[in-house]
Amino acid sequence: MAEKWVLMVTAQTPTNIAVIKYWGKRDENLILPINDSISVTLDPQHLCTTTSVAVSPAFTHDRMWLNGKEISLSGGRYQNCLRELRARASDVEDEEKGIKIAKKDWEKLHVHIASYNNFPTAAGLASSAAGFACLVFSLAKLMNVKEDHSKLSAIARQGSGSACRSLYGGFVKWIMGKEENGSDSIAVQLADEKHWGDLVIIIAVVCSRQKETSSTSGMRETVETSMLIEHRAKEVVPRRIIQMEEAIKDHDFPSFSRLACSDSNQFHAVCLDTSPPIFYMNDTSHRIISCIEKWNRFEGTPQVAYTFDAGPNAVLIAHNRNAAKLLLQRLLFYFPPQSDTDLSSYVIGDKSILEDAG
Ligand code: DP6
Repeated sequence: MAEKWVLMVTAQTPTNIAVIKYWGKRDENLILPINDSISVTLDPQHLCTTTSVAVSPAFTHDRMWLNGKEISLSGGRYQNCLRELRARASDVEDEEKGIKIAKKDWEKLHVHIASYNNFPTAAGLASSAAGFACLVFSLAKLMNVKEDHSKLSAIARQGSGSACRSLYGGFVKWIMGKEENGSDSIAVQLADEKHWGDLVIIIAVVCSRQKETSSTSGMRETVETSMLIEHRAKEVVPRRIIQMEEAIKDHDFPSFSRLACSDSNQFHAVCLDTSPPIFYMNDTSHRIISCIEKWNRFEGTPQVAYTFDAGPNAVLIAHNRNAAKLLLQRLLFYFPPQSDTDLSSYVIGDKSILEDAG
């Protein structure tokens, strides 16, 4: 092998937003959840991670930069992903550059990883989901890993649970699985991105500061102390998963909205039921919920669904473009720009909706 070469791959992966939430692990190391979850993957142009991975014989150890700042790769999650990928790497040949890497060389070669998020990191906008999905996907390409997306999802899962769902577009289910080694805890696509093209997703960024309680420690504390979590995982979520799959299949927005809003509210209820209680939403988040609930009730049929992850930011899913336009008008009215509760809204999808609403 010549010593002076670098081989590089760049990939982009969008984040995903759960409409039936994952909260709680049965195995912390392998990241195995206590319930199935369902998410929608956002448009790849927005809220995504871009990761470049490179390999060279000149690299002396594995290194990673996140948004330009070097971070440690010593954590178990990174190590698990790297180990799983190296074990599945294949021969790589780049004739143009005269590079040949044999399968066995991957054990000795080191990688450099540079990752950028185009949205606030760790502010409840599922940055780890896009991050680990992109890391696994780009390294799999670099190392010529010949596995399908579901196998790769099981590797991304070991980086961050929600990451396994970002390997697919559209609507995705993470099956919790039964095996102790996690081999059946994988993501599957329920419907592709074209299936329900009318939906418009708007993210109201209530606060872009880093959250106080990470999802990882929050869900650990919930599993250890909440009395409600078992009821949620065993009784409520399995029913909701079936109903949500039906709602997605049938484009049934009233059911979709009812399930997504109830599941978000129950997730935050189990956070409150944790000792000490975890507060991810703030007053502005609560005001957004009241606003949407009142509007949906007034219309008689839901126009918008809301869901909040481990942070105060609202993910709002409008039934169609017209509902999205009305929603933005309402947000601009109730949370005016430059006020205390200014919501710098990201419109995922067609930006012209913002202009129409202005
Ligand atoms: C509230 O996937 O960030 O967004 O597996 O510990 O990395 P770890 O947690 P993470 O948790 C996401 C929780 C959630 C709900 C969801 O995305 O399903």
